[in-house]
Amino acid sequence: MGAVTVITSGKGGVGKSTVSAGLAAAFSARGRRVLLIDCDAGLGCLDHILGVAEQRVFDLADIVSGRAEPADAVYACGTLPNVFLLPAPGSQEDVVSPAIMKQLTEAFSKYYDHILIDCPAGVGNGFASAVAGAQRALVVSTPDPVCLRNSNRTRQLLEQLGVPQQRMVINRFSSRNFRLQGFYPDLDTVIDAAGIRLIAVIPEDPLLAAAAARSEPAPANCPGALAFGRLAARLEGEQVPLAPLQKF
Ligand SMILES: Nc1ncnc2c1ncn2[C@@H]1O[C@H](COP(=O)(O)OP(=O)(O)OP(=O)(O)O)[C@@H](O)[C@H]1O
Ligand SMILES: [Mg+2]
Repeated sequence: MGAVTVITSGKGGVGKSTVSAGLAAAFSARGRRVLLIDCDAGLGCLDHILGVAEQRVFDLADIVSGRAEPADAVYACGTLPNVFLLPAPGSQEDVVSPAIMKQLTEAFSKYYDHILIDCPAGVGNGFASAVAGAQRALVVSTPDPVCLRNSNRTRQLLEQLGVPQQRMVINRFSSRNFRLQGFYPDLDTVIDAAGIRLIAVIPEDPLLAAAAARSEPAPANCPGALAFGRLAARLEGEQVPLAPLQKF
């Protein structure tokens, strides 16, 4: 049975989809078989990021309604070996119920090493549905007080919904901006503000944004991709240190 991880956040636009795609690429590089499930009904973007938008015919809602068999709505990502995408429903009305998401993830987990669920922004029905089948959550946050306050709220909601295993991913980190903004003296204070254990720091890396816009994988040796490699290793239980942050 594969590990089911939901990628969530307390605030929209902080990098959930970027982390989902980057982590899938990193697991692929480790030889793993990965299914990404895009739960951002109406606003899904992983089909574009992974370059499967053109092939896409069916999505998550089609499986649930019986219009498609599960295998028909799963698309192989041509640029990343062993990475597959189940695209998000095209309409926000088609949010899948938590009970069905649980069944689906359980059924799919037999065929993959990792299932990564990209959560929509906010903490409404889409959130409850996305987290329903997950064993653990990555809470993505930028290192600023507003986002971290919301991460703390997300932590509590995840606990209420039965996902106590949580780790924090600080995204878009730049030591220069961190110093200039002066919100926090150091990263330890950031982690205290969110109350979730840190598992990765992903740098601000324009190559990640450029690759996503072009539907291409990020260059394997760019700082962002290297950080995703370390995150993938840590999620598989390896003792890998965080990168020296002064480099970011
Ligand atoms: N580490 C990074 N370095 C540079 N740009 C980034 C980084 N992470 C995310 N971005 C950019 O930030 C924007 C928002 O990222 P993304 O779409 O992944 O966020 P999201 O949390 O999934 O948003 P939503 O809540 O709308 O689903 C995108 O343009 C993306 O390319
Ligand atoms: Mg997103």
